[in-house]
Amino acid sequence: MTDARPDAASESHPDSSSDDWAPTGIDVTTPSIARVYDAVLGGKDNYPADRAVAEQMLQVMPGGRDGAWEGRNFLARGVRAMAEQGIRQFLDLGSGLPTVQNTHEVAQAAAPGARTVYVDIDPIVLAHGRAILAGDEFTSVVTADLGAPAELLASPGVRDLIDLSQPVGLILLNVTHHIVDDAAVAKIVDAYKAATVPGSGLLLAQFCRSTEPELAALEQVALKALGSGRFRTMAEIEAFFDGWEIAEPGIDYMAKWRPETPLTGDLTIAQKVAGGGLAFKR
Ligand SMILES: C[S@@+](CC[C@H](N)C(=O)[O-])C[C@H]1O[C@@H](n2cnc3c(N)ncnc32)[C@H](O)[C@@H]1O
Repeated sequence: MTDARPDAASESHPDSSSDDWAPTGIDVTTPSIARVYDAVLGGKDNYPADRAVAEQMLQVMPGGRDGAWEGRNFLARGVRAMAEQGIRQFLDLGSGLPTVQNTHEVAQAAAPGARTVYVDIDPIVLAHGRAILAGDEFTSVVTADLGAPAELLASPGVRDLIDLSQPVGLILLNVTHHIVDDAAVAKIVDAYKAATVPGSGLLLAQFCRSTEPELAALEQVALKALGSGRFRTMAEIEAFFDGWEIAEPGIDYMAKWRPETPLTGDLTIAQKVAGGGLAFKR
């Protein structure tokens, strides 16, 4: 299977094919993280306020679209790796808008009948998710704040599909940087890890701190335009996996994590935006 490439606009589902379409009750005048990310990916589920922020991001980070696609491809590789280890249920926290290579599609392709619960704080994800999930009894979307793990894990939306007595694939992809408080985010991730049984996996990546000026500029845009964006060092990212067995090749830039085709040359700045990896509870 080859990585998906950044021409996803045509893959966006039909409900949002018009710029004027907006789900009832959704404020499209304030940029939303989910829709800005969709705009960066080249999707159609976004509005002028979101596109303005996406443009600011792409200005400070030329090639940022490729960087965002590194994330989607990393997700697919990570979900397949968890399925190979026998995981059959996935909790995708801060899942974002449906695009291509969604978790449930990758999971079901790898293991028919695999179950996925998408969780996102932004109700637009549910609005769009419903359309593509109609008729899929193995997948659901829950609108909730991942910052309240106990409530979320006890909620019917999660419990209906996720059996916590069986291994779970926890996915926190490009979302922990939206929780600025280091102690709070560590506690949240630990709570999800503690709620799972051995054999469970944690696939996590987030924006990285480095000395590259483009990354510092991107952090500032995220902070100013979206109100959140805490870039963390690779060591800080690795700490999220504490106590679990980190799978090969370790914690690194997403592009370097089991690439489909061998990497040649230096990574671009966009490929250095985010880092993470996969670990298992033993
Ligand atoms: C940058 S997007 C990443 C989407 C997807 N995980 C990916 O990597 O393709 C971050 C997503 O996290 C969601 N999010 C941010 N804070 C959240 C929270 N506290 N609880 C649940 N979702 C959250 C946003 O609404 C957005 O959809």
